[in-house]
Amino acid sequence: MSFDSLPNRREHGSFKWKRYQEDVIPLWIADMDFQTPKCISDALHNAVDHGIFGYTLPQKKLIGTIIDLLWEKYNWKVEASSIVWLPGLVSALNICCRTYTQKGQNIVTSTPIYPPFLEAPALADRKLQTTELDFVDGQYKMNFDALEKAITSKTGLYMLCNPHNPVGRCFTKDELEKLGKICLEADAVICSDEIHCDLILDDSITHTPIATISEELANKSVTLMAPSKTWNLAGLGFSFAIIQNYKLRKRFIKTMKGIVPYPGQLGMLAGQVAYEQGEPWRLELIKKLQENRNLIADFISQNMPKIRYIPGEATYLAWLEVRQLELKNPYLYFLKHGLALSNGSDFGSPGFLRLNFATTTELLKEALDRLLYAYQQAN
Ligand SMILES: Cc1ncc(COP(=O)(O)O)c(C=O)c1O
Repeated sequence: MSFDSLPNRREHGSFKWKRYQEDVIPLWIADMDFQTPKCISDALHNAVDHGIFGYTLPQKKLIGTIIDLLWEKYNWKVEASSIVWLPGLVSALNICCRTYTQKGQNIVTSTPIYPPFLEAPALADRKLQTTELDFVDGQYKMNFDALEKAITSKTGLYMLCNPHNPVGRCFTKDELEKLGKICLEADAVICSDEIHCDLILDDSITHTPIATISEELANKSVTLMAPSKTWNLAGLGFSFAIIQNYKLRKRFIKTMKGIVPYPGQLGMLAGQVAYEQGEPWRLELIKKLQENRNLIADFISQNMPKIRYIPGEATYLAWLEVRQLELKNPYLYFLKHGLALSNGSDFGSPGFLRLNFATTTELLKEALDRLLYAYQQAN
């Protein structure tokens, strides 16, 4: 396994690598420059050799692997019937907005947030209401006062991202309990996007699916998970929702019907092998991500005092506050200096940028040099 070589992704149509000119370092969209583990590509080779790619059902082995994993990791007993198979989780965010709110009701989420959270309510013809995460004691936290005001009997749905894209928080059980209480009191469904849950970077931190906190919360939530971020499988389109409440599940499936297809055969196979055999590779990945995260933190604190970076507890995304540089358009400014980052405005937070550090340390160092050069020119 190697996290130090950089395969040419441009030749394979990578969105990340093809969007910008060749002299730009692309550290924006959330996929990794690492090859998936050999156990997964071997399984895919076998399937390709078989040569038949007809309609395929989720296999018992896949279902069993996921159920066992949820039990082992979270003590979470999930029945096979509670799993809804999906080709992607952005679809699920949109399905939730269309399913669990009525006209006149609003949908609440907290910014900054992964852009599809901000887009989905309007696509469902619903009103979006946002609260902001707080920045206190050097950490991003939920603002419960703001949440209490925003989540009312008019709220159909709260959209949670945990672990959080882009700030990298892995919310504590206590925080989730408080949020859950507010949602239960308002009778709002919780859509909890937990796609980054296998990318916890701090050994002292554990991920808690909000649905595991109480039976009431299990009954009121839709949990979204996938192996795609962790094992770099996004292009294979495999993910799933866990909806334990029969009525909520039935409504979700009704919205999907005839519109959202099953995941493909190769995606399901890759997902099953990832969950069953991908743990040693995942542990190595975490070490590489910790190394890269710490490198960014040290480099910024030593060289760029006007940029604030709070190292994330999870994911390979660094959320950089660049407001002190007083740039008109930070995204365009750094792009002109050869660095493509994600634009904070798209996450509801102008003056911020998101840097994807799931790449080789060598390329990351080059990117940091460009960041520093651009920073010096701005001062
Ligand atoms: C929080 C979150 N949800 C969903 C997705 C995308 O999911 P999918 O590719 O399954 O649509 C991403 C990708 O970056 C993400 O960060």
